[in-house]
Amino acid sequence: MRQLSQRVLAASESQTLSIAARAKQLAREGHDVISLAVGEPDFPTPECARRAAIAAIEEGKTRYTESSGILELRRAVAEKFRTENHLLLASEESVLISCGAKHSIMNALHAICNPGDRVIIIAPYWVSYPAMVTLAGAEPVVIPTSPADNFKLHPERLRDYFDDRLACVIINSPCNPTGVMYTRQELAALADVLAEHECYIISDEIYEKLTYTTRHVSIGSFEQVAHRTITVNGCSKAYAMTGWRIGFMTGPAHVIAQAAKVQSQDTSNPTSIAQYAALAALQHAATDVEHMRLCFEQRRKLLLDLFAAVPAVRALPPDGAFYVWLDIRLLLTEQRTTADIATELLERYYVATVPGEAFGMAGYLRLSFATSDEHIKRAVERVATFLESLNS
Ligand SMILES: Cc1ncc(COP(=O)(O)O)c(C=O)c1O
Repeated sequence: MRQLSQRVLAASESQTLSIAARAKQLAREGHDVISLAVGEPDFPTPECARRAAIAAIEEGKTRYTESSGILELRRAVAEKFRTENHLLLASEESVLISCGAKHSIMNALHAICNPGDRVIIIAPYWVSYPAMVTLAGAEPVVIPTSPADNFKLHPERLRDYFDDRLACVIINSPCNPTGVMYTRQELAALADVLAEHECYIISDEIYEKLTYTTRHVSIGSFEQVAHRTITVNGCSKAYAMTGWRIGFMTGPAHVIAQAAKVQSQDTSNPTSIAQYAALAALQHAATDVEHMRLCFEQRRKLLLDLFAAVPAVRALPPDGAFYVWLDIRLLLTEQRTTADIATELLERYYVATVPGEAFGMAGYLRLSFATSDEHIKRAVERVATFLESLNS
């Protein structure tokens, strides 16, 4: 048989999706599964977006659009990037609308990576980054962070990786899975070091609107790296629109032009109807977003308060996103790995979580609070019962 693509064979499958599939299977078999593994808001898409989509269908806006996205949406996104994120170079020409933020990142990587290039990923990282870099033909280079640094990268550490092969550094703030955010000062320090080396920066800001402790800042707003930063965002998390598949990015015009070329030969435009829904969300959904953010803030507090009373584990208070990074290192033994604990929690206590290995760091579980208070309370009770069983 002829060999398949080495690039594709080398890329891993999404572990979060396989856990979600197992949780669904157990639920189908009649078990009372509580999933803290989900990566999407459990809120409805804002009404303005739903109505705009229906109107788009009825008005016949159902044909191919410009491959890079409709002009009105590119304008609205450029305006958002300029006014909210201070990305002064953003314009309708330097914005590309894609089929989700994942697609935006993939297009950007295709545009900038050559075989043998390296892309820095900071661990713990979003599950898909390493595979995406591999699929783009480059080599993922993972820099681990430590709990002592609150899982943030020390800028000086980057210097060790500066060489001709370094094509790009991916920054994700707020971070999935830790919820950690870089402050303005920390980003300024990162930007200063990155300014010393000619590489691109992909800033994944998909959780920008869901923050609790500090204001979100875009690294692309720092003058020293503005001309090399590709800023990615989208509708999935902010507007509870995961299924609509709308992501967007802005960056240097020459990079966006090549990314747009990739898209034009690959998917063409994102769904026309979803683009009109996204436009309405950007223009009219601020109140819905704030409502959702406040609900997440309350659930965050609930989950943290409940875990404060559970011995042997420690929950890291997230600055943003909707995940809690639970330190379970005290529970690990030679025989019991993080993945074993997640498997046992799911198979015996019917609580779905994602083990830290999926994010490049064992010793932790990612718990999503994109679920009801009731589920959160029952899930923590079950985790506590599981922990007691380990001691007895
Ligand atoms: C950090 C991060 N970036 C990007 C994405 C992808 O977003 P989208 O659904 O818009 O492709 C996700 C989704 O989970 C994410 O957590």
